[in-house]
Amino acid sequence: MKSILLTITVICTSLLARAQQKQPVYLDLSQPIERRVENALSLMTTEEKVSLCYAQSKFSSKGVPRLGIPEVWTDDGPHGIREEVLWDEWGGAGWTNDSCTAFPALTCLAASFNPKLSLLYGQSIGEEARYRNKTVLLGPGVNIYRTPLNGRNFEYMGEDPYLSSRMVIPYIQGVQSNGVAACVKHFALNNQEEWRGHINVDLSDRALNEIYLPAFKAAVQEAKAWSIMGSYNQFRGQHCCHNDLLLNKILKKDWAFDGVVISDWGGVHNTDEAVNNGLDLEMGTYTDGLTTKGKFPYSSYYLANPFLKGIKEGKYDITLLDDKARRILRLIFRTTMSQNRPFGRFVSPEHSEAARKIAQEGIVLLKNENKFFPVPSGKFKKIAVIGENADRSLVIGGGSSSLKVAYEKSPLDGLIAKYGKDHITYSLGYASGPALYGREEPSKLNADSLINAAVEVAKQADIVFFIGGLNKNHFQDCEGGDRKSFSLPFGQDKLIDALFKANKNTAVVLLSGNAVSMPWINKVPAIMQGWYLGSEAGNALADVISGEVNPSGKLPFSFPKKLEDNAAHFYGKISYPGDSINQFYKEDILVGYRWFDTKKISPQFSFGYGLSYTSFDLGPLSSDKKLYSKSDTVRISFTVKNTGAKYGAEVVQLYVHDPVCTVTRPVKELKAFEKVFLKPGETKTVEVRLKVADLAFYDETKKNWNVEAGDFILQLGNSSSHISQKLKITVR
Ligand code: GLC
Repeated sequence: MKSILLTITVICTSLLARAQQKQPVYLDLSQPIERRVENALSLMTTEEKVSLCYAQSKFSSKGVPRLGIPEVWTDDGPHGIREEVLWDEWGGAGWTNDSCTAFPALTCLAASFNPKLSLLYGQSIGEEARYRNKTVLLGPGVNIYRTPLNGRNFEYMGEDPYLSSRMVIPYIQGVQSNGVAACVKHFALNNQEEWRGHINVDLSDRALNEIYLPAFKAAVQEAKAWSIMGSYNQFRGQHCCHNDLLLNKILKKDWAFDGVVISDWGGVHNTDEAVNNGLDLEMGTYTDGLTTKGKFPYSSYYLANPFLKGIKEGKYDITLLDDKARRILRLIFRTTMSQNRPFGRFVSPEHSEAARKIAQEGIVLLKNENKFFPVPSGKFKKIAVIGENADRSLVIGGGSSSLKVAYEKSPLDGLIAKYGKDHITYSLGYASGPALYGREEPSKLNADSLINAAVEVAKQADIVFFIGGLNKNHFQDCEGGDRKSFSLPFGQDKLIDALFKANKNTAVVLLSGNAVSMPWINKVPAIMQGWYLGSEAGNALADVISGEVNPSGKLPFSFPKKLEDNAAHFYGKISYPGDSINQFYKEDILVGYRWFDTKKISPQFSFGYGLSYTSFDLGPLSSDKKLYSKSDTVRISFTVKNTGAKYGAEVVQLYVHDPVCTVTRPVKELKAFEKVFLKPGETKTVEVRLKVADLAFYDETKKNWNVEAGDFILQLGNSSSHISQKLKITVR
């Protein structure tokens, strides 16, 4: 009897002990996240809740040390994981374990028109962020390309809301599959760098909904982004980091966003608005997001002591604080405290392969007279490579997306590896200054002597590759400033003319994130648009130039012949860059090819355009019916045939026009695209589904999307300016 009693006692004691040890729900990773959030919140003090809502250092915010809830570590950027910085500095901390893989710029990813590559991109960069123990990757950016002067276009996905929407979703899914939050940015209407900190943007509700919101909406509703970054500028009189319409109404109510709104660094200006208008996490206050250091302690941030004081005085309702804290806890439980969080990888061979593949598929062949390209190795004995961009680092500079990389294969490296150093002669040709923030420092080299030296090399060569374009200097492709001119900088036009005069066999390869003017367009026989291609730049470029890889990239934005042809520059200063206080997007929905095609202005090169080393034929376009109801899905099919001699890929694009409508609609809007890979002679049938609902326009009278009954013209082609087939369908 005694022994039974003793046993029972022991069992009860150990159960009691275990019950006492039983960890709180929020630490039980197997519990549903919402239960863990509520449990953690119930255990936190008001001070602890407020401390979640603002930065503790340049790139991190507090967790709850007492409860073992970790800090939130954010890191730039969209193209690779930024090096560690000192606690409260912008500059590098000099670590020796944080040199990353640089992936191509997002314009290159967009130019691939390949969502599968976007998933690969997100997975790869997400692994690097995970390995570096980051909670939030501050990217991708999806601001629409409205003007070729915007310094940050290279970080975004072009001029079309549908392309940006389709390409941003897999990137975010890929990043977040690593237990790292993506932070889609900059929400919203940050389409220039001029006066970015305050310019008050306005535009029609229709343009807002049809052009500037779709990519963010797709990121939130389809990719389930766990965080989003408010932008610096104002929209209708309120800063976007605490904008009631954007954050409370559209993002959190209409789109049901359950993640964290993170301010841009220095984008918060007001406690009342920050508390009431949907901001959750305040970063970088009192700085300019790039160089200036804050003079004030973090506790003086708008969501720090002023917020706590307001809560204690009953000025702010505790529910506002709880909502912010819930979102931040949810972010932490989705990332650092999530179950089965993977461990990531850093600078792995797979990441280099991914970077090379994305770069290869993003390069766009724009002109190729007499099959100038490809240039197989061995075809020429003497190859001249001219231009600073052949040998200059293009991963450094550009602002917050600047990277410290494990390696960077320059175009010159790649061409030497492909053709052999005995066959390559390099000459600088032109020179820019160092990549700096906030100012330009021209090169001290004499431009004419550089040109003369390059001309001598070109004269002796069998073939000339000029490799130029823009770079990451301020007022080029760089955050914090816009370009001052649409032309190529540093005297490149003059150099190109001189090279062509010296040797007709000269091709122009541009590395940039923006369109430029091309006064030499009719002279040079071949033009290739490369992007900022990252660590594998040289290999990818040499793969395409030599023909090992057949180019399949398409332009994600139009190249105007001259700046005034561009929609944003048609309506004078108030439209771009604004009057320094206010700005109105007067072109409304007619952005990019919508403008060129509707106004019948022919661009230099059009959206969706890109050549191949082979040729393709599009077979008959058909739809499953002729008459559709508004809730139907249109099933479209067509064939694509590779009619040439090389394996390659064609991006077939489907545009739609609604010719009869109560509002003006563009003569074409991209509504589907498909990248089809084909062997020589191979034909594939492609099926595309198009919801009738997606043919809607934003109806300002209804404050909602609307499909008006009538005819719609489906237009199939391989660029916005090359439509090969049309098909009419009717909506009842
Ligand atoms: C910068 C940029 C933003 C970046 C952040 C942190 O000012 O606008 O894209 O992620 O601040 O560097």
